[in-house]
Amino acid sequence: MTQAHPPRSQLPEGLVSLADHEAFASGVLDANAQAYFDGGAADEITLRENVLAWQRIPLLPRVLRPVAGGHTRVELLGRTLAHPILVAPMAYQRLAHPHGEQATALAAAVLGAGLVLSTQASTPLEEVAQVVLGEAARGPLWFQLYLQADRSFTRALVQRAEAAGYEALVLTIDAPVNGARDRERRAGFTLPPGISAVNLQGLQPPAPAALRPDQSPLFDDLLTHAPTWDDVVWLRALTRLPVLLKGITHPADARQALACGAAGLIVSNHGGRTLDTLPATATLLPAIAQAVGDALPVLVDGGIRRGTDVLKAIALGASAVLVGRPVIHGLANAGATGVAHVIRLLRDELEIAMALSGCRTLDEASEALWSRQSG
Ligand code: FNR
Ligand code: LAC
Repeated sequence: MTQAHPPRSQLPEGLVSLADHEAFASGVLDANAQAYFDGGAADEITLRENVLAWQRIPLLPRVLRPVAGGHTRVELLGRTLAHPILVAPMAYQRLAHPHGEQATALAAAVLGAGLVLSTQASTPLEEVAQVVLGEAARGPLWFQLYLQADRSFTRALVQRAEAAGYEALVLTIDAPVNGARDRERRAGFTLPPGISAVNLQGLQPPAPAALRPDQSPLFDDLLTHAPTWDDVVWLRALTRLPVLLKGITHPADARQALACGAAGLIVSNHGGRTLDTLPATATLLPAIAQAVGDALPVLVDGGIRRGTDVLKAIALGASAVLVGRPVIHGLANAGATGVAHVIRLLRDELEIAMALSGCRTLDEASEALWSRQSG
């Protein structure tokens, strides 16, 4: 069982914010699923900081500016999006609700939010694409890629994603190994029967290396298959799709990504699930945006819980944002309806934040930052 109660599809009453969804979901998900979805690495410093750092950035509005006719549209990779909110790739969504990734995809598509499907999704990637591609109002459809030790399997996976209609690849580069997930280990987290990374079916795990006692299973086995910059170049040559890199935190890596032909960057610390004590993404974003200038779109995720957070992210140089756990909470609380509600709340809050800041469009977002005010 993954939920403490039968799966829900009706929106519970009284939920008016993403925080409300989070609180409600903690009574819906069982302890196993909650440890996986809500947990972070080690002491969860980064997990908490991600949320707090957006909250700490003050806004200072301009008043009496004409904002009628304003909108939340943004340009991203040659498309105009209705708003800058995408759903972050998250594994095993059927652990939150039996409708899993299909429900998330439907809600995102109907609300014009982009969808990034995880390599470790618990639903076949073709089924998710079908749900999204049929929606006229849909946002971008991207596939998140974890390079597998077996590069020919990886190549076949990329070809499947291309054939299914995915429009970009998001190569995740910050998780060659899981972080020290204390919360998961305390809960004894396991995937229940029937939930697995179905798109990796048939993948043969590499034969374990014969290690000497002085060798490390991590450095001398697992990490011998970990991706490097050469693999970014390999991937670029292998696919006609744009390749975004997810998990950039250092400006020098941002410049290297640009040199390797990345089509975009996602400033991310994996929602505080990998290296603990990495700075919050709100703190990292400005230097990355500055490092690449207008050469590449920069996206950001981690701790985005309010429309004001979205406005601040755009003000600090992001083209768009990705939202993770709140989507899982909506999914757990009411399936597709719950995810739709979460995205709708965030978008409505963004419009309110813009209107109250005197921003007619997101091009004007940076003017709402208190730190930008002069005189
Ligand atoms: C993730 N994340 C993630 N990232 C990725 O590239 N591939 C994946 O399969 C997953 N899986 C995953 C599962 C769960 C349960 C969570 C919470 C996160 C990271 C995710 O894409 C994103 O970077 C963070 O979740 C963003 O932070 P917030 O919005 O959850 O604070
Ligand atoms: C996670 C992996 C799947 O964060 O990226 O759980």
